[in-house]
Amino acid sequence: MISNKMETAINGQINIEVYSSYLYYAMAAYFEKLSLKGFAHWMRIQALEELTHVQKLITFINDRGGEVKLETVEAPPLKWESPLAALEATYKHEVMVTGLINNLMDTAFEAKDHAAVNFLQWFVAEQVEEEASVDEAVQRLKLVRQSEGGLFLVDREMDNRTFTLPADLVGVF
Ligand code: FEO
Repeated sequence: MISNKMETAINGQINIEVYSSYLYYAMAAYFEKLSLKGFAHWMRIQALEELTHVQKLITFINDRGGEVKLETVEAPPLKWESPLAALEATYKHEVMVTGLINNLMDTAFEAKDHAAVNFLQWFVAEQVEEEASVDEAVQRLKLVRQSEGGLFLVDREMDNRTFTLPADLVGVF
């Protein structure tokens, strides 16, 4: 049985993950409008991945006998100064999410909730990957900042991202 404190904390994380998906769909729309199809594709996959995070959290609460509570989701920004500014905002957002996952882990440790500690390990590892992949895109864009041709080359690379459904969600989506 999940404690009220842990249930509330994980429900809060559901809201953040839905917001993350919303934010990345906003970025996908922004890139689409700039005809940067690769960046738009990358952001759509990012948005989809966030929804898989939402599902993992929902399943965990339900499996532990808790109650899922969905709250109002904040509206994301719709425009950024440049593609680089959008990617830098993505990096900053992911660093913030990492901090929240760490807080969740602290809550799980304090509550001696071993099942939650075990469950949250996946999110800890995922955040390392998320920060690294966004940072790589930021660094590439910085390298070609002055060149339009370079921007289109990076756009083509961003188009290569593929979506992989986590094994525990096969058949759920
Ligand atoms: Fe679900 Fe991008 O963190």
